[in-house]
Amino acid sequence: MTTRLIAPSILSADFSRLGEDIEMINQSDADYIHCDVMDGVFVPNISFGIPVIEKVAEIAKKPLDVHLMIVNPDNYISAFQKAGADILTVHYETCPHLHRIVSSIKEAGMKASVCLNPHTPVTVLDDIIGDLDMVLLMSVNPGFGGQSFIKNTYKKVRLLKEMIAAKNQSCLIEVDGGVNFETGLNLYDAGADVLVSGSFIFKADDPIATINHFKTL
Ligand code: DX5
Ligand code: ZN
Repeated sequence: MTTRLIAPSILSADFSRLGEDIEMINQSDADYIHCDVMDGVFVPNISFGIPVIEKVAEIAKKPLDVHLMIVNPDNYISAFQKAGADILTVHYETCPHLHRIVSSIKEAGMKASVCLNPHTPVTVLDDIIGDLDMVLLMSVNPGFGGQSFIKNTYKKVRLLKEMIAAKNQSCLIEVDGGVNFETGLNLYDAGADVLVSGSFIFKADDPIATINHFKTL
């Protein structure tokens, strides 16, 4: 049985009234607030950074799920912890010393999560899965909201679920990119525990009802 958690991504929020959008998420059944940090180097886009996370943390009533799409994430672990991150996700593709950074994230008091790009096989995590609180599978190429879901992700979720069943049953599977009710239901059925959804929620007529509906899929 998978848990069915939903993490709205504030990349698709209206940044001129970010506080109102955080309040909207506070009032919903959302489980986490997903915060996408992009550096314009690892990914071809720049979003927001530590000062924005600090302000979000001041008003958020849900744990902050911070997704770092940056090079050298090891330089910023303590800064994101101080800013209010509860879960810190680093990309496998940016971390030659993945075991060290996962240990540092946990020592700083946060949950440790590793993200894989669409082309990176889940088997690269075989020797670290026992240490992880969560794995984030990208179902689009990271950098932008509103892209189309890559269907190969379903296979990756199923295989990762088998690895987790064998090695670390408390590790969650999160999926990010192109998630709507249709891809979301398929992902939960494949074994995903946490869905990230940005444009689908924020473009909806009723974002709170949309968030809440994910929990009933
Ligand atoms: C993309 C980000 C996602 C993004 C998802 O690089 O990591 O979190 O906000 O947006 P949608 O749900 O619109 O694909
Ligand atoms: Zn993300």
